[in-house]
Amino acid sequence: MSQPATHETVEHAMQPEDTPELRALYRGFEDNHLIPLWTQIGDLMPIHPKPRAVAHVWKWSSLLPLAEKSGELVPVGRGGERRAIGLANPGLGGHAYVSPTLWAAIQYLGPRETAPEHRHSQNAFRFIVEGEGVWTVVNGDPVRMSRGDLLLTPGWYFHGHHNDTDKPMAWIDGLDIPFSQQNDVGFFEFGSDRVTDYATPRFSRGERLWCHPGLRPLSGLKDTVSTPIGAYRWEHTDRALTEQLLLEEEGQPATVEQGHAAVRYVNPTTGGDVMPTIRCEFHRLREGTKTPARREVGSTVFQVFDGRGSVVMDGVEHRIDIGDMFVIPSWIEWSLQAETRFDLFRFSDAPIMERLHFARTHVDEGDR
Ligand SMILES: [Fe+2]
Repeated sequence: MSQPATHETVEHAMQPEDTPELRALYRGFEDNHLIPLWTQIGDLMPIHPKPRAVAHVWKWSSLLPLAEKSGELVPVGRGGERRAIGLANPGLGGHAYVSPTLWAAIQYLGPRETAPEHRHSQNAFRFIVEGEGVWTVVNGDPVRMSRGDLLLTPGWYFHGHHNDTDKPMAWIDGLDIPFSQQNDVGFFEFGSDRVTDYATPRFSRGERLWCHPGLRPLSGLKDTVSTPIGAYRWEHTDRALTEQLLLEEEGQPATVEQGHAAVRYVNPTTGGDVMPTIRCEFHRLREGTKTPARREVGSTVFQVFDGRGSVVMDGVEHRIDIGDMFVIPSWIEWSLQAETRFDLFRFSDAPIMERLHFARTHVDEGDR
């Protein structure tokens, strides 16, 4: 079978002869801020996505001590706003972009500290791999942050954080900062220097209203772009995944693949993603499970929540442990393998790719 054509292998009919007139033409392009397509098409319109971002792993054993050291040396407050340290993809030229669309960071809040309130167009979430004791106050509603919880701060919601304990806490933030920066869509507004409500309720008002399975309050019949739920609690996520694997054992259809349970966090008013630009999911692999190799348009970030295993990205295997984070850029082949029961939190830019009809997935069927 012949190989598919590439820009390099097709005959290039537009190879003009190098003459003084041609050079003058190209100088004319340059002087007038013009670039001809025929010299660029391989980069501008590749046969398949060729990301500048690279597959990369950040070890929790490096992230956490550096965040702790930042806690000693860098005060948190107005101006810098957050003690957040962004994961900078080595392929993206020194920007704090984990991918062309996504930001991922470790954030650290010391004992009794407050991160002031603000709001911005960018959508944000937090995921907690360890610790407790911080409340994030979202549009005036205090939301407890505990291990395994997913917290949402959709675009233009005021938010600040405060640590109610004598112990520090670290968590990860995910936002659509690169997408908004590259498209010049972001607005930002300062809010209160302190959080507007220092109460520490077990459940936020949003959860008390919305978090009853299958029940929608009649006061909330109008659909909202982002989820009205401030926190998706670990006990629910864990139970959902446990039940999927138990049902699979009973021979019932429940898992996404053999030995692979997965849930998507959704906006209960629409059944769609929790926010317009970011998809959040949680995946659990049974010990020994290997997922088929796949490629997807758009970028994805994982954080290991529990267990041990490995990820193969672009043919390179990386061993990963609790807290480790890794990015899979667009169309890079990847698969996961579980050494023990393996729990992973995942977020991606899939809502952008799907809404704009760029989404495409390829699964290696021979790998199933
Ligand atoms: Fe923020």
